[in-house]
Amino acid sequence: MKLFIDTASLEDIKTANSFGVLDGVTTNPTLLSREQADPVAQLKNICQIVNGPVSAEVTSLEARGMVAEAKRLVKISPNIVIKIPCTVEGLKATKGLTSLGVRTNLTLCFSSSQALLVAKAGATYVSPFVGRLDDISAEGMALVSDIKLIYDNYGISTQIIVASIRHPIHFLEAARVGADIATVPFYVIEKLMRHPLTEAGIKKFMDDWKKLKKILDK
Ligand code: G3P
Repeated sequence: MKLFIDTASLEDIKTANSFGVLDGVTTNPTLLSREQADPVAQLKNICQIVNGPVSAEVTSLEARGMVAEAKRLVKISPNIVIKIPCTVEGLKATKGLTSLGVRTNLTLCFSSSQALLVAKAGATYVSPFVGRLDDISAEGMALVSDIKLIYDNYGISTQIIVASIRHPIHFLEAARVGADIATVPFYVIEKLMRHPLTEAGIKKFMDDWKKLKKILDK
């Protein structure tokens, strides 16, 4: 499973990239607004850090506007993937952009029927939001399993990005159901390698090593 970071923070992207396991970045208008910088400049900087797909979201609500925005956004870098909401207008824009060879990430996906239609329109990626479904007592990961089943039934090549990840179990479950990608906020990425037994084990090894050195130095 590929690991994307879900942020527009250059600092967090640089740090996560230094771990050597980052495959891409997803942003959205909320994440970009948190950085209080020019979004185009911010996206350009992100694309210079990460050697992989970087999702940039359109803010138009109708297809014609989405396509026009996408044409401007793809000029930022060859890394740019156009993020489009799962709406009928989004479907039309996806169809048009796919025919132009532009990669798309269909976001705010909350149902399998949306996922099937965006795939038919040629979406490169679909992003089911698991955390937001969990928030309303629906099972986010059940949606991911269902999309995976449907895509496998028909050999659909649209890749599933599990989004709205809130904790390490979301990340693990995404891998268990066979999602292609998980896009993970930095605070969750940091937790993925942490284990108290690893930390306790290192401390014990270091303490014993110091004891041996003391004996040898006598
Ligand atoms: O990838 C989508 C993500 O940015 C939304 O996350 O936590 O706001 O539901 P959240």
